[in-house]
Amino acid sequence: MALERTFSIIKPDATERNLTGKINAVFEDAGLRIVAQKRIQLTQKEAEAFYGVHKERPFFGELVSFMISGPVVVQVLEGENAVALHRDVMGATNPAEAAEGTVRKLFAKSIGENSVHGSDSLENAEKEIKFFFAEKDILP
Ligand code: CMP
Repeated sequence: MALERTFSIIKPDATERNLTGKINAVFEDAGLRIVAQKRIQLTQKEAEAFYGVHKERPFFGELVSFMISGPVVVQVLEGENAVALHRDVMGATNPAEAAEGTVRKLFAKSIGENSVHGSDSLENAEKEIKFFFAEKDILP
């Protein structure tokens, strides 16, 4: 197993319902360490750039306007196999398909308002972490 870092966002539907601590507890209980974290308001430009890979998708406009509708918490999580482990504890993108005990089963409202984002590969994790954090601000 390899020690990895992944990137996480606690989305506006979750910050609005004051769920940051409960979601962080799920991550920590699964063995992930929060090694950087900040609560920020994304701008439209930032959200469009961050989700650029989805810009041709029919839900892109909805996704961007949701992600700027309130504060988000951006995080770096560290642990053994952190990318896959984090995806497991988040659960399926669509909460109707998410397994019991996962963040999305517990808290997500819909496929769009699904409480959390996580990197889908180690390569994307590195890019997404760099989008929001300087190395000096990541403290294992
Ligand atoms: P996320 O992991 O943040 O990456 C892209 C997001 O697009 C995804 O989570 C979903 O929240 C969102 N998404 C995917 N499919 C749809 C959809 N059909 N309608 C609205 N949002 C979607």
